[in-house]
Amino acid sequence: MPPLLEVRNLSKTYKRSAKFVSSGYRQSLGPINFTLERGKTLSIIGESGSGKSSLAKIIAGLIPSTGGEILVNGAPVSKMSRQKRCQSIRMIFQDPSNSLNPKTKISRILSAPLRLNTNFNDTEIKQQIKIILSLVELLPDYLEFYPHMLSPVQQHQVALARAMILNPDVILADEILATLDISLRFKIVNLLLKIQEKTDVSFIFVAHNMNLVRHMSDQVLVMNHGLIVENSSTDEIFNSPQTGISRHLLQNHQPDYRK
Ligand SMILES: Nc1ncnc2c1ncn2[C@@H]1O[C@H](COP(=O)(O)OP(=O)(O)OP(=O)(O)O)[C@@H](O)[C@H]1O
Ligand SMILES: [Mg+2]
Repeated sequence: MPPLLEVRNLSKTYKRSAKFVSSGYRQSLGPINFTLERGKTLSIIGESGSGKSSLAKIIAGLIPSTGGEILVNGAPVSKMSRQKRCQSIRMIFQDPSNSLNPKTKISRILSAPLRLNTNFNDTEIKQQIKIILSLVELLPDYLEFYPHMLSPVQQHQVALARAMILNPDVILADEILATLDISLRFKIVNLLLKIQEKTDVSFIFVAHNMNLVRHMSDQVLVMNHGLIVENSSTDEIFNSPQTGISRHLLQNHQPDYRK
């Protein structure tokens, strides 16, 4: 059986731009190789500029790669329809108050991906929204609300519902917990774990908080200058990091992830 997700020789070369100080074309990422199994969580850690967000965005199909291949269940995503790819790999953004359209009711935020990517009729759409709201533990009353009427945690729940609405294989989340304070972070973390237990979805987290990484992940990728320098199980990374970079990133780790 092929792994759920396989990233093969993925690379990215950014062109010179005014915003990013570089000269001409520059290999920013790769070649990157790793696999992820169904129902498992992979965290990507690394210093600022190491390529974590670039990798996440390429996997989510938000920016193109320069080379290499991404396979889901052995099938290259480059050969999939846009719809199939959107259904299979979803991304959650850091700040839901920015990523949720303030002029759109929650009901429309959740029905839009279904209208775009499925042939569901109105009854099926309503049914799927009901199932997903219950999965993210939101009451149906909120469907008539606009995003700004919700608390930060509820906004995260809506962002999660939108990501889960097409029953994806993989959810990518880039620093989604960074803006939440500790007690709220704890709520979302528990919700993510429950969702994974119920649906067997795989997660890829880009994370800075090593306590959360340890608590949530099965596997950790350590990136440095656009390359993977270590790819191990969470226990291996935390108990015997193999590279100086990993040791440096983990040195502030404290056993209680809520600290
Ligand atoms: N659109 C772009 N054009 C040119 N270079 C870019 C672009 N986006 C990112 N880069 C460069 O690619 C490299 C990786 O950036 P990326 O944002 O993926 O890092 P990161 O690990 O997510 O960092 P952070 O922890 O700060 O979020 C950096 O050197 C960055 O300057
Ligand atoms: Mg980033």
